[in-house]
Amino acid sequence: MKFISRLCLAVLVSLSCVALAQQQQPTQAEEDRVKAQQQRSVTQPGNNAPMWRDVRSGPSAYTTSTVQGRETDVLIQSWGETWRQIRNGPVTFYGGWLVVLVLAAIAAFYFVFGSVKLHGRPSGRLIRRFSSVDQVVHWTVAISFCVLGLSGLIMLFGKHVVLPLMGYTLFAWLAALSKNLHNFVAPVFMVSVAVFAILFVRHNLPRAYDFVWFRNALGYVTGKKHVPSGKFNAGEKLWFWGGVVVLSIVVSWSGLILLFPNFDQTRAVMQDAWIWHAAAALLYIAMSLGHIYMGTIGVEGAYGNMRNGYTDETWAKEHHSIWYDEVRTGRHGAGGAVPVGAPHMREKA
Ligand code: HEM
Repeated sequence: MKFISRLCLAVLVSLSCVALAQQQQPTQAEEDRVKAQQQRSVTQPGNNAPMWRDVRSGPSAYTTSTVQGRETDVLIQSWGETWRQIRNGPVTFYGGWLVVLVLAAIAAFYFVFGSVKLHGRPSGRLIRRFSSVDQVVHWTVAISFCVLGLSGLIMLFGKHVVLPLMGYTLFAWLAALSKNLHNFVAPVFMVSVAVFAILFVRHNLPRAYDFVWFRNALGYVTGKKHVPSGKFNAGEKLWFWGGVVVLSIVVSWSGLILLFPNFDQTRAVMQDAWIWHAAAALLYIAMSLGHIYMGTIGVEGAYGNMRNGYTDETWAKEHHSIWYDEVRTGRHGAGGAVPVGAPHMREKA
């Protein structure tokens, strides 16, 4: 009896296995499709057109339980592949070369011409150039910008540049860190750059003498000419309007679309936002390299201005003579020369 029941159980199990196997057997049409696909990957590697044709035909699929919103029922979205190709193609290629070439051009320029030196001797008399508020806001913008720029570059190029150097485990850790830093530092940058633009706009309004500066820009950056300028020269104004104002608006606006996907925007909107974000950010990074160069090793004495808030009278005279005259004659709100070491040197003038 026991034997018969065991036999029945064995027969039942094997029958259901056969049924299952038959159920999982692919149909002839499916088999042909798989074979054609395998054949295509040999004869035309990388060409998976039939599969993408299916995807792009936009069939509705079952996502209702997980995705609620404007794209309910769109499981695979066609523009995603186009976006991927734009990201890994022109944006990565041209953007990457832009940053590398600007870096190389700055390095070459520095080795050929060196930094812009003071021609006269420092007078030892210091003029207030930036208030403490200016300094705090500038360095908040600068530090947050550098964190965002570096973490962004790691996310975009890390796979090609950092991964081969450090391997999967460390790179996975670095990529996750970059993404989180990028998300959390972005609001700091957005708020501080807006305050910065308000603080600095007054001195960046265009003036007729800015055209003279542009005509003599090469002479200025090679250290051969003193070109008169107001508190900021035309090159700095270009950085202010092009970078601090326009590019900040583009990266912040597109960044917000990416940072908060919960406002019911479609995936296509986010992909467009990504292209704007990355293209503007790469241009911004390339421009910032020029600014960082001029603010550190490119112009003798410039770094100290923002570090300490004061500049030497000789520096002011040689680099920003119109501003210097305004300060000297009291036509400029802030300023006034104070002797080195004077007890009130650090006071707001
Ligand atoms: C580590 C990075 C940076 C360094 C070392 C640096 C350095 C400097 C220095 C030394 C000055 C004073 C120049 C003068 O006295 O005329 C300055 C001014 C300024 N910085 Fe920066 N900076 C950095 C990053 C940034 C970033 C990321 C931004 C904007 C996104 C920025 C925007 C400005 C602006 C608008 C001014 C006013 C003058 C101008 O337009 O160049 N800086 N910076």
